[in-house]
Amino acid sequence: MAESNTDTKSSNQMWGGRFASGPDAIMEEINASIGFDKKLFAQDIRGSIAHATMLAHQGIISSDDKDKIVHGLNTILSEIESGNFEFSRRLEDIHMNIEARLATLIGPAAGRLHTARSRNDQVALDFRLWVKEELEKTEKMLTGLIAAFLDRAEEHAESVMPGFTHLQTAQPVTFGHHCMAYVEMFGRDRSRVRHAIEHLDESPIGAAALAGTGYPIDRHMTAKALGFREPTRNSIDTVSDRDFAIEFLAIAAISGMHLSRLAEEIVIWSTPQFGFVRLSDAFSTGSSIMPQKKNPDAAELVRAKTGRINGSLIALLTIMKGLPLAYSKDMQEDKEQVFDAAESLELAIAAMTGMVRDMTVNTARMKAAAGSGFSTATDLADWLVREAGLPFRDAHHVTGRAVALAESKGCDLAELPLADLQAIHPDITDKVYDVLTVEASVASRKSFGGTAPSEVRKQIAFWRARN
Ligand code: ARG
Repeated sequence: MAESNTDTKSSNQMWGGRFASGPDAIMEEINASIGFDKKLFAQDIRGSIAHATMLAHQGIISSDDKDKIVHGLNTILSEIESGNFEFSRRLEDIHMNIEARLATLIGPAAGRLHTARSRNDQVALDFRLWVKEELEKTEKMLTGLIAAFLDRAEEHAESVMPGFTHLQTAQPVTFGHHCMAYVEMFGRDRSRVRHAIEHLDESPIGAAALAGTGYPIDRHMTAKALGFREPTRNSIDTVSDRDFAIEFLAIAAISGMHLSRLAEEIVIWSTPQFGFVRLSDAFSTGSSIMPQKKNPDAAELVRAKTGRINGSLIALLTIMKGLPLAYSKDMQEDKEQVFDAAESLELAIAAMTGMVRDMTVNTARMKAAAGSGFSTATDLADWLVREAGLPFRDAHHVTGRAVALAESKGCDLAELPLADLQAIHPDITDKVYDVLTVEASVASRKSFGGTAPSEVRKQIAFWRARN
């Protein structure tokens, strides 16, 4: 690279070509957050309007200055929204960018806005408002995903599929019941979201730098104006706390883990070997070389997003873990983690809602698979307990022999002749064949929360009333 003056040249030798003008440029680059915190512009302006209004109400600034400030801030809001605002990295962050523009627009009155506050409580406010809105959005999106599962569960309350443990065929279940397992998981995520909203619903503004302020401010007034339940109670904690962001990330990580398990099941189910579901073209891609292929890319990417979200959670926990009270600049690194995780989570929920609604379920394939692998062996054992009075352990042993025999003959349990079964245990009658079908198996499991279609319908009604 050509260098035009010796000063620059010596800087470059020390700091590398990126920092043409030496330490100032390095400082600007490491210090500035405007590249990402401009996302907070609407929250910053809302917060400033509430703060200025309160200052005027308390007689700390004149109502004339307040009017100028509010008008100027609204002008800035429309400038940013219409793309007519020039963000400057020299002005570091969103707070200073907006305040500098306000000064240009309204003159000295702009300087009164920062009375009785600091960027420390200002950023805590902006970020809390942003996370609160994101949590509210997440709550709605989870509700949409739950609704999609409820519809599929209703449609398939009676469709039999193999239930697995260790990914080995265990017992027949219904696809509706399997869908309702996800309703429980996403229902828990949604209640975590609601709790998180409750936790963060306190207004930080007025904590100032860390110690509060000598001005006669009214923090209850700003809290109310900004839609918070109440103001925070400790000014030191207020500016040093990022629990609300970490809680968001923790919730996103748990929900991401659920989404990823679902993604994994969809990947497995859509293989030709399983063939339980077929994804539409909208959620899959073909291969450029193998024309027969249909790849579940959307599900795979949902599975992968979990990695990013987990990374963000660990990053912010690590950023925070060694910080002395109160504010440290380290905390500026909180935002990108949350923004990135929020984007990933939104995309993952949206893609999953689409896939769940859109996938074609192959009930014939599921039913055939449900009956293979001696999936009704437990039903045989239970029959022996119930009808022949055997202790369960003995029934288990007898059933094991029946399974071994069927395996050696290459047939299903239901295909073993009665004489063969009676040779294993004389009390077996032809009534046993009633419980060896997959339909009879699932219908019998009527225990609360069990897989019987009647129980699944009760679960669906329970969730419909809450969704
Ligand atoms: N950009 C900063 C952040 O995101 C704002 C707070 C700056 N406060 C300070 N005392 N330098 O954390």
